[in-house]
Amino acid sequence: MPLTDTIPTAAPAPRRSGRTATRRRFLMCPPRHFDVTYSINPWMDPTKPVDGSLALAQWTELRNLYEELGHTVETIEPEHGLPDMVFAANGATVVDGRVFGARFRHVERTSEGPAYLRWFAERGYRDVHWPEHINEGEGDYLVVGRRILAGTGFRTDPRSHAEAQEFFGLPVTGLTLVNPEFYHLDTALAVLSEDEIMYYPEAFTPGSRSVLRELFPDAIQATPEDAAVFGLNALSDGRHVLLPDSAVHLKERLRERGFEPIGVDLTELLKAGGSVKCCTLELRD
Ligand code: ARG
Repeated sequence: MPLTDTIPTAAPAPRRSGRTATRRRFLMCPPRHFDVTYSINPWMDPTKPVDGSLALAQWTELRNLYEELGHTVETIEPEHGLPDMVFAANGATVVDGRVFGARFRHVERTSEGPAYLRWFAERGYRDVHWPEHINEGEGDYLVVGRRILAGTGFRTDPRSHAEAQEFFGLPVTGLTLVNPEFYHLDTALAVLSEDEIMYYPEAFTPGSRSVLRELFPDAIQATPEDAAVFGLNALSDGRHVLLPDSAVHLKERLRERGFEPIGVDLTELLKAGGSVKCCTLELRD
């Protein structure tokens, strides 16, 4: 039979067979003063007890995991009276060694902005920007390849998106969050590789959902159960994806795509509305 008559019957090959991890540098803040003493998101209930030593043990396990995977972890000294400082992701956004500082929405966290910027200044980072508009660092700014996805709706002021685009010289795409339980972009969307993400569509406005479909038609979509256990507050090195262990559906989807999901237990920090990604600021030097 001539070749031209054959009809291809084989299923399309999987998009990628193997995944490669790249070494990362992270900034983390040990939760030595962690507590829930105020409530600025629906997860925080100051009447519920917090076990400080358990929080520190769970955080230490995450840090050790990063190091075992070959990543470098830098730390910043936690400050008294700043119980949320453990959530280093909120401290800044760093791309190409340039540091875009954070300016917090709530007065309880405002001192964290200068504390993180001092860390960068003391370590010789030259290009450090004190922001004009409210933005909560990588809580709302997620870097995908050479593009930045930017959350708004609860914390980061949409005017900050233009400020970040001007500072980094990279395209910034605004996305609006609608559900107060998913108040930061990194609670509803995770970056998996240079061009892949996973997200929870219900956390976004219809317009933002359609932007995400347009940009990432093959994205993994999280179930309400995955989202509710903070499964999207995940960190990928291109191969390993560290995420809350109870995000069972997401772990399956990740395996199907050739990633290696690694379940982490950070339940004590979840009492403040944070997990893996919130504890991790990526230093893209
Ligand atoms: N209690 C903190 C807040 O409400 C949690 C921050 C979590 N960080 C994050 N990157 N989502 O601001």
